[in-house]
Formats: sequence, C-alpha cells, structure tokens
Amino acid sequence: MNKLITLDEFIWQKQKDFPFATGELSGLLRDLGLAAKIISREVNRAGLANIIGGADQENASGESVQKLDLLADNLLISCLKNSGECCGVASEEQDSFVAIPSSKNAKYVVLFDPLDGSSNIDVNVSIGTIFAIYRRVSEGECTLQDFLQDGVEQVASGYVIYGSSTMLVYTTGNGVNGFTLEQSIGEFCLSHPNIQIPREGKIYSLNASQYKNFGLGIQNFVEECTDLNYNFRYIGSMVADVHRTLIKGGIFLYPATKKRPEGKLRLLYECNPLAFIIEQAGGLATNGQQRILELESTQLHQRTPVFMGSPNMVEMVEKHLADTNTTTSTIK
Ligand code: AHG
Ligand code: MN
Ligand code: MN
Repeated sequence: MNKLITLDEFIWQKQKDFPFATGELSGLLRDLGLAAKIISREVNRAGLANIIGGADQENASGESVQKLDLLADNLLISCLKNSGECCGVASEEQDSFVAIPSSKNAKYVVLFDPLDGSSNIDVNVSIGTIFAIYRRVSEGECTLQDFLQDGVEQVASGYVIYGSSTMLVYTTGNGVNGFTLEQSIGEFCLSHPNIQIPREGKIYSLNASQYKNFGLGIQNFVEECTDLNYNFRYIGSMVADVHRTLIKGGIFLYPATKKRPEGKLRLLYECNPLAFIIEQAGGLATNGQQRILELESTQLHQRTPVFMGSPNMVEMVEKHLADTNTTTSTIK
C-alpha cells in the first residue's frame, strides 16, 4: 500500500521549506481542517439530527439562512477563536467582522463562506465551505482594513466540498493540492497532488434560467457553446461547480443580470479564494475585464460578476463581452 500523507503531515513538510516560518499559518490551516471534519460530520447526519431547513432569519445580504449555515458559521468561529493564530474573522453570515480579543496580536485574519450552496442542503447535493487567509495590515485589535485587502494579497485560500466524498483543496501560492477525508481514520489524506486545470475546457456552467436577463455578450457566448456542442452542467453550489471545473476543465460563470447588475457572488469570501485556487492551477478568473484578484474591495459583502476556469473558455467569454461592448454595467 502507498504511504498515506495526511493533511497535517503535508502542512508540516511544507512548513520546513520556509526556514523562518513560525508555524502560525500551519496551525491555522490545521484548525481549518479540524473545523472541516466537524462540519462534514454534521452535514452527513443532517437528515437525522433535525438540522436541515431554514433558521427563520436573513443574513447581511438579505438571504434566508439555513440551520446548517449557522452551525457551520459557529463551528468555524469557535475553532478559529481556539486556534490563537487568527486575530479576527469575517463571514457571509456576520454583518461585520468579528475581532478575537484573546488573539489580538496574532498575524492573520480569515474570511469565509461557512456553507456554500445553501439551496442544496435539503436535497443531498454537494455543498461546501470556502476560506481566505490574509496577513493583517493593522496592529492591536484588527480593523476593517485587514479584511478589505486585494485578492492578490491572500496568503492561502481553499475550500472543502461535502460531496460523494469530503475533500479539502488549498493553496498557499505554490500550486494546489487536494485531500480526501478518509472517514475510517478521520484524516484528510493527499489524493490530488499538484492539481492542474485542463487548459482546454468544453463544459460551461451558469444559471441558464437567467438567459433573457444576461447582456448580449453572455447570450452570444452561450450560443457559441451550444454551436460547439459543449456540455452544460450546473449544480448551483459554487464550490461544487468550481471543483468540477478545476478537475475536468470548462468555465463557471455568474455574470451580471438585469436584476443583479453587480452579479450575485461575493468577492471577498467566494470569488477571491476560488480565483486564487483556479489561477494557481493554471486557469483564469476575471470579472469579464479584470483579474478577480486585483479588484478593489470597499465592503465585506460586495458582489462581482465572475468568470473562472480553463483559459480557452474564459478568453472566449471575454471576447464576446468585448465584441458586443456589454460589460457588467451596460446590460439593457
Ligand atoms: P450561498 O449558499 O453561500 O449563499 O451561495 C449560493 C451561491 C453559490 O453557491 C451558487 O453558485 C449560487 O449561489 C447559485 O445561485 P443561483 O441559484 O442564482 O443560480
Ligand atoms: Mn456561497
Ligand atoms: Mn453560504
């Protein structure tokens, strides 16, 4: 049998490559791995434990919150509070950032979407967790500026997918590695080393029900995909759609629509971390014109149109946007 490399061993091995590393980032990644295992357990038994369904409240973006959203949010916050390596967190489910006074001198902040794909929770379809880690820019108690950094400043990012198996995929800016949760020993084990996205993809993934609300550029792009007989796949959980895109190639897009001229997906804890992964695997991630990772952020919950995946397909959609001069703000 091949030797299993666990996530903890892998992180430890990588840390040794950086002679001055203090181990704080490694500790943080390990704690996120622990939170992921607990969330995975809860997701797996959700149908038995009365934790599916709505929580009768809305989040900062006015969206209805599910019980599992809150459970995952609370778990992540408490794991990160206990870790001592993180001076504050920001979450989709929290109106503003949460400072951690007991670790106010820690170097890092973490932003996350605790549970992505809420509409799929009750129907046993893949959902996920997305996280981004930044080195803070303030001193003392953390400030909003620590969280509003450009995506290029991410020190690490990743996601967990609770699918037919649970996987954790992360990058520290030196390639992308994927780990599968081996339930019997309760460990994430390296299963997908050095993931590379296929350069040429043939799968497109978007909410096609919005076709009439897209600009002409996106409509033309969809037409070209059908002309080329490209496959269409849409799960409705960004993590799952991006994971498939990463492994099989293609494009995931959530463009601007008439109703949502800013797009739907959130820059800081959905698009930036996944853009970092996609770029590190050799793909592209843009808002149709600019790299996602270079977009300026002014608010924790800001949204952006997003196009990410194999270079050929991201370039194809950008060409249609440019040809029709239908950028994000010009949908009629
Ligand atoms: P969340 O569950 O964290 O609110 O995210 C839902 C997002 C994302 O996962 C997915 O890609 C998108 O919403 C789907 O939106 P549509 O239902 O509009 O297609
Ligand atoms: Mn989400
Ligand atoms: Mn969510």
